[in-house]
Amino acid sequence: MINNISKIHVKASGEYDVLIGDNLINSAGELISKVIKPCKVAIVTDDVVNQLYSSVVENSLIKHGYQVIKYVFNNGESSKNLITYGKILNFFAENGLSRTDAVVALGGGVVGDMAGFASATYLRGIKYVQIPTTLLAQIDSSVGGKTAVDLSVGKNLVGAFCQPKLVICDTAVLKTLPEEIFLDGMGETAKYALLDKSVFDLLSLNEYPLDKLVYLCVDYKRKIVEQDEFEGGIRKLLNLGHTVAHGIEKLSEYKIPHGKAVAMGLEVILGASFKHGYIDEKTYIQMQSVINKCVKKQIIPYSINNIAICAFADKKRSGDCIDVVTVHGVGDCRIEKISVDSLGDFLK
Ligand code: GLY
Repeated sequence: MINNISKIHVKASGEYDVLIGDNLINSAGELISKVIKPCKVAIVTDDVVNQLYSSVVENSLIKHGYQVIKYVFNNGESSKNLITYGKILNFFAENGLSRTDAVVALGGGVVGDMAGFASATYLRGIKYVQIPTTLLAQIDSSVGGKTAVDLSVGKNLVGAFCQPKLVICDTAVLKTLPEEIFLDGMGETAKYALLDKSVFDLLSLNEYPLDKLVYLCVDYKRKIVEQDEFEGGIRKLLNLGHTVAHGIEKLSEYKIPHGKAVAMGLEVILGASFKHGYIDEKTYIQMQSVINKCVKKQIIPYSINNIAICAFADKKRSGDCIDVVTVHGVGDCRIEKISVDSLGDFLK
């Protein structure tokens, strides 16, 4: 019997629930059994999360009749590449994972993206469940069906849209995250604050329940994904701050984590939006203060020109232009086409 679960139902090409509540991973088997019949399940996770949560998920799955196999790779963005991807696929094949079987992605954004992409492509697609264990993965990357791996030229350049069968967000797990990992997720929550007034208002408070923050971000994302699953238009709003962030991540050779880079990207975009007169000074200061409440102000260690050069390898580029999301008010962000050549000047 599981109490106090909030549920958000996502109606995309595949429909599924996002479950939010404390201690849900203890009941992973029971929750998964409501959407996937007992079968062979491949848990894909990293070495850090494996130590913390694999056994509880594994035991719960076994208790509910699943046969469990597990693939563990090294934690971090540097694992998110075609080599690890190939190893995961070979592991599935060597262990006879079939089309009636399933994958559980247990971990942060890298695990979710890698396991999701492997599931989307193995045997032309098998079912998968996301169990995100970081704030960043719970509020953003586990929902909406984007899966990907990086190429040496840039981030997430190979991937597929493939919706999970279920997302289990255990908010108790967030309370024991190392501070650095937690703050990384707060960079993405700052993005949601600019996109959505209810998140902005919540983050303006000095204290708020974490499960409410996860709920509001996921629910905003649900609305966007339901309108534009394959990112032909409005879903691009979720890339707010990301063109700059991906440039920063790449220049740092992925030593600066994604959420922290997004917070830097938001500062740059907010500054540019103010400079171009899209927002007045009062709004600019209010927005900056909410971003800085989420993540302390950072010095960006690269020039805007160098960051803009990286945008050429960004998948948001089409031809010589790139879609940049600019800020016009809380809950009023807009997609603007900017030529890659003038991006540096636009952002400065
Ligand atoms: N993380 C942005 C998106 O899912 O569209």
